[in-house]
Amino acid sequence: MMIKLGVLASGRGSNFQSIINSIDRGALDAEIACLITDNPTAYAIERAKLHKIPHVYANPNGYASKDVYYRSIADELQFCGVELIVLAGFMRVVRKPLIDAFPMRIVNIHPSLLPSFKGMHAHMQALEYGVRISGCTVHFVDEGVDSGPIILQEAVPVFSDDTVESLSARILECEHRILPLAIKLYIEGKLRVTGNIVKIGD
Ligand code: GAR
Repeated sequence: MMIKLGVLASGRGSNFQSIINSIDRGALDAEIACLITDNPTAYAIERAKLHKIPHVYANPNGYASKDVYYRSIADELQFCGVELIVLAGFMRVVRKPLIDAFPMRIVNIHPSLLPSFKGMHAHMQALEYGVRISGCTVHFVDEGVDSGPIILQEAVPVFSDDTVESLSARILECEHRILPLAIKLYIEGKLRVTGNIVKIGD
């Protein structure tokens, strides 16, 4: 069954593009009903225009509080008939009004093997820690920072001469694989969440 996705992005939007591409090649039975950005100059907006995807700039400074901001985003997404929200490079911690409106129906991609290196600058954190392996994680969003139930992860090696740029490029390739795959598993009803554990199966 075709479902409607809502995507939230703050910048370049390459993960947003990976979802568009998966839909276009028939790998995802979904429609992107709306892109919401918190940044009026996000390149993701250009991608939305190119693919005729409705897009909304939600100015985070234009609301009385963060809760009101997220309530209005929830309203917008509900109005569009969105079933699953995808945080694709959305650089904010989403708040309770949005999470309560879409319980276990928000997924996020993060560029580290959670629970390591939560929050901002995950690649820099990994390099500074000296790990030999890093990667990316798709998880359901709860009220913590990068803390919800893990759906998929993919690992990459970290080399001694890596920079933030080289490591993020290596991880990004994996992000573009596992984010659409996690959405596909969701659409196919293959994700069962018990507490913090996600079981994948029929
Ligand atoms: C991606 O690497 C994503 O994992 C990361 O931002 C980048 C966005 O790239 N997200 C976070 O760090 C969230 N905490 P994109 O705009 O090209 O998809």
